[in-house]
Amino acid sequence: MKLETLQSAEKKLLLNTYERTPILFVGGHGVYLKDENGHDYLDLLSGIGVSALGYANPVIEQAIAAQSRQLLHTSNLFFHERTAELALRLTEISGMDRVFFCNSGTEAWEAALKLARAHSDSVRAGGGRLGTKFLALEHSFHGRTIGSVATTHKLRYRTPFAPVMPDVEFVQFNNADDLRAHFSEEVCGICIESIQGEGGIHPVSQEFFAAARALCDSTGAFLIADEIQCGFGRTGKWFGYQHFGIQPDVTTIAKPLAGGLPIGAMLCNERAAAAISPGMHGTTFGGGPLASAVAIAIIDEIRSSHLLEHVTEVGTFFLDQLRGLAERHPVICEVRGMGLMIGIELSSEELARQVAAEMLARRIILNRTSETVLRFLPPYILEQKHVEMAIAALDSILTSLSTQPAYAGQASPEGNAHG
Ligand SMILES: Cc1ncc(COP(=O)(O)O)c(C=O)c1O
Repeated sequence: MKLETLQSAEKKLLLNTYERTPILFVGGHGVYLKDENGHDYLDLLSGIGVSALGYANPVIEQAIAAQSRQLLHTSNLFFHERTAELALRLTEISGMDRVFFCNSGTEAWEAALKLARAHSDSVRAGGGRLGTKFLALEHSFHGRTIGSVATTHKLRYRTPFAPVMPDVEFVQFNNADDLRAHFSEEVCGICIESIQGEGGIHPVSQEFFAAARALCDSTGAFLIADEIQCGFGRTGKWFGYQHFGIQPDVTTIAKPLAGGLPIGAMLCNERAAAAISPGMHGTTFGGGPLASAVAIAIIDEIRSSHLLEHVTEVGTFFLDQLRGLAERHPVICEVRGMGLMIGIELSSEELARQVAAEMLARRIILNRTSETVLRFLPPYILEQKHVEMAIAALDSILTSLSTQPAYAGQASPEGNAHG
């Protein structure tokens, strides 16, 4: 089916949720996607941080083929061979004790919220004191279901669905004093992305993360780390919180875990896990044999190919190149990120929109988030030569745009801060 046919069919048939870019992808290989006309696109977004091993990866293909021949589904009423095998690997890499499997990021986050509420309920049942409030951060993003969206900062995601889950307060990003001012025994959980993704690639500060840990320790509330975008190897460590030397009580992963098959997981320590007993929470598909088999194969591949080291190396090169670019183009106000989770802040929304469009015209995929930020979440198998291609394209686009009067002299008033 050609693009135009699909466009008119979807316009009539689908709920009006997405403004898709008019490109029809029909295949992919390595770090490239292929469109219906046979053109290759360098993918620096990997389906919003999902296709970590790229496209047509034989490791994934073999895992899918083998598992699909053996068994696709059992429900969680019975055992199958893959769940414990995957859970063991996840506990090893995360420092957590137990896992709950589901099918997406927002479901993993819902499970984390429910766990914190169940914990505070059991504390109160035992005569202790712990409230039901969550503290989330300004510019946070935790998903679209009614609890996740309640902890997501942007008003336009929440207000059309009001009333969302009550008892959520937002704290200024990286302001430890504001966090302390909001904290009390009424709080059952502090919600943190160690690097905010949708919010514009903003790493949390060491001081803020440590303050959150200390506050939670003082009352028994949970420190809940959303690693759905920044976790599972994206930053060069398995989990973003491992850069800070801080262990949360609960964490969530999803996106790249099964390389493109839907899966999510909530991981927690024993203290947190104690709040849940059979029947309190569950899902039909979560932790099914197919997605689990693929996730196992991906973890083994990341380990045996030393991909975390590779992510660190290529990510450092990418960041250095972008900082060099920022020296030449003052419209780049800031370069931020860790590993292959990178954002560049441009001086205006219109400029960011235009650069993203020009990159796409040169068949390089990235996206714009938080209005002025260009975001890079490439596959972990990205190589230095791909980075060089992206930098050359950005350089040429910014050079040609800078001759336009609309963009001249748009450098941020504070000058560049290449954090
Ligand atoms: C940090 C974070 N949490 C939660 C989610 C929601 O994940 P999903 O879209 O799989 O529900 C996302 C998705 O972008 C995310 O980046």
